[in-house]
Amino acid sequence: MKLLVTGGAGYVGSVCAAHLVDAGHDVTVLDDLSTGHRDAVPDGAEFVEADLAEAADEVLGAGFDGVLHFAARSLVGESVQRPELYWSGNVVTSLRLLEAIRRHGTPRLVFSSTAATYGEPEAIPIREDAPARPTNPYGASKLAIDNAISSYAAAHGVAAVSLRYFNVAGAHGRFGERHAVETHLIPLVLQVAAGTRESVQVFGDDWPTPDGTCVRDYVHVDDLADAHVLALQHARPGHHGIYNLGSGTGFSVREVVEACREVTGHPIPAVAAPRRSGDPAVLIAASDAAKAELGWNPVRTDLSTMVGDAWSFAQSRRQPV
Ligand code: UFG
Repeated sequence: MKLLVTGGAGYVGSVCAAHLVDAGHDVTVLDDLSTGHRDAVPDGAEFVEADLAEAADEVLGAGFDGVLHFAARSLVGESVQRPELYWSGNVVTSLRLLEAIRRHGTPRLVFSSTAATYGEPEAIPIREDAPARPTNPYGASKLAIDNAISSYAAAHGVAAVSLRYFNVAGAHGRFGERHAVETHLIPLVLQVAAGTRESVQVFGDDWPTPDGTCVRDYVHVDDLADAHVLALQHARPGHHGIYNLGSGTGFSVREVVEACREVTGHPIPAVAAPRRSGDPAVLIAASDAAKAELGWNPVRTDLSTMVGDAWSFAQSRRQPV
């Protein structure tokens, strides 16, 4: 298929673009490089450096079989401080993309949604029919886009799939997580092992969980990429499928730090810190729908595999070129 990958110079987008190129698709990456990296665009993909809101109509006019839409702002804390960036950068931009898809009759859309659309869960594991009550503008912006996609699919026949990621981890060879402002647990812990940070803070040790620290569902970025390839194959015209993607197992902050110690051999000092506002105690996905309907089979569910791949990536970035 001829595919447009928006945000394909970012973490998840670049890994998915690499999988799509490997699967033989004709891939064009569109990214404004505001947070992505030019050298993360896989060889074999065409690259367009542009603002998506401005360029969507012209680019899709060339005729594509599908769009995988990763381009977004994705920092929960920033979204609380500067919501305008999320309503504009995520929602307005995505509406422009949807308009271009409608005008040019692009048949397929796969969208990066998030567990943040659910907010504080009422029940664990979280199913797709759980109430969507996001607790920050990031989650609210993604939910707004999901709702827009549902109406476009129904009215205009787009074959659409939203994939709601839980905590993405790991790396795919030279494609991995490198944010200018890092807020995510595993890369921060690995910075300690790499010697660029002294210790990691544990945000709260009095949560109602077995060891008192927050529990999250980590999913390997390669398993996530597999789900995108499957979503393209299974998308049905006029239908919007929404699927959670997680491994279905929860790991606490302490278990993640311990896995990082085992993989790196570094003692990794961890210091107790106050709870981070907006953090739910436990987030675990029910991904049965993705397994049953897309045929998704996550296989890299072991925490040490995810941490090991992230660590190999982090170390490769430190080698002199
Ligand atoms: N944490 C620490 N110390 C840190 C960083 C994180 O203790 O220095 C803890 C957090 O409090 C949380 C866990 O580690 O309990 C994971 O935190 P991350 O920031 O790595 O990930 P989140 O669970 O907050 O966020 C992820 C995605 C978001 C998404 C959110 C909700 O990265 O995009 O899940 O689904 F919005």
